Amino acid sequence: MTTGLAAAEDTLLQKGFLDLDVDPTLDLVEEIERLKKEKNAIILAHYYQESEIQDIADYIGDSLGLSQKAAETDADIIVFAGVHFMAETAKMLSPTKKVLLPDLKAGCSLADSCPPHLFRKFKEKHPDAVVVSYINCTAELKTLTDICCTSTNSVHIIESIPKDKQIIFAPDKNLGAYLRKKTGRDLILWNGACMVHEIFSHEKITKLQVRHPNAKLIAHPECEAHILEKADFIGSTTGLLNFTKESEATEFIVATEAGIIHQMELASPNKTFIPAPPENTCACNECPHMKRNTMEKLYLCMKYEQPEIHLEDWIIEEGVKSINRMLDISEKAGLGLKSSNDPD
Ligand code: 13P
Ligand code: SF4
Repeated sequence: MTTGLAAAEDTLLQKGFLDLDVDPTLDLVEEIERLKKEKNAIILAHYYQESEIQDIADYIGDSLGLSQKAAETDADIIVFAGVHFMAETAKMLSPTKKVLLPDLKAGCSLADSCPPHLFRKFKEKHPDAVVVSYINCTAELKTLTDICCTSTNSVHIIESIPKDKQIIFAPDKNLGAYLRKKTGRDLILWNGACMVHEIFSHEKITKLQVRHPNAKLIAHPECEAHILEKADFIGSTTGLLNFTKESEATEFIVATEAGIIHQMELASPNKTFIPAPPENTCACNECPHMKRNTMEKLYLCMKYEQPEIHLEDWIIEEGVKSINRMLDISEKAGLGLKSSNDPD
């Protein structure tokens, strides 16, 4: 049992509030590597994490790859360097494992834009519709979902549903509008969006294109339609990364969270990557939720094995069905599971 200061630290860590002072002379890379071995832990990182975290991860990927990895790992502890819905998904797929998130406050504006109690009422208005939810939603929303999808497999998932069925798509209206165009299906959309992908400036991108006439504009489908219409290529984070590797172009304007540029530069050191400019002057194409994770918090969370993700049993049992349906369809289509850490 923990008492006194230790108990207070426990509570704070669990809430993710604590940035305990980390000894500045510690070699965090060495310490994290040591803790990984000692605790049989695996670090899964999303492409939007800061570069140092990506460099120390065992697997870096998009939402689909990260889910697939979380489902198949034999590690005892999954340390999720990403946001809350991603760690929840890992817990649902590996409920007997300890899943840690360096900062519990690393949320997601898109997941927050679809509260389950309101979505339940919305769903009641379309009782015959199949519900497809983007994986960027809460665990509870997944219990109200028939099939999850990610940006890598969303077209396949929509196309797997019989043509005579109505489809509700939540929570991202931008990805939903893109899917309407790609699949020709009349999706019923929830009105949610990602704060990072809604901030890109059409005007500033146009000015950049004038200055860099040979640059390819590449965009994530969470971006608004007027940005996607200008794009030379649209894809998930993995899709965008692969495009930059395979393309003969040497300059790219990147309309997604700027963290992905680290892997693009590593894969193609002679190419130039320009982050697409946001409407204002701040670094709004950095996701403030993703960037809550730091090397210090990663180290502390591995040391104390907190903050840990806990989910009620019924949420795991109900919610995982929609994720498993997505994984089955993805496997049949041969999609996913390749890390930027893997050799080509
Ligand atoms: P993907 O990496 O699956 O394309 O998702 C992007 C995203 O917004 C994750 O939060
Ligand atoms: Fe959510 Fe957008 Fe951040 Fe992804 S980039 S975690 S969708 S707020």
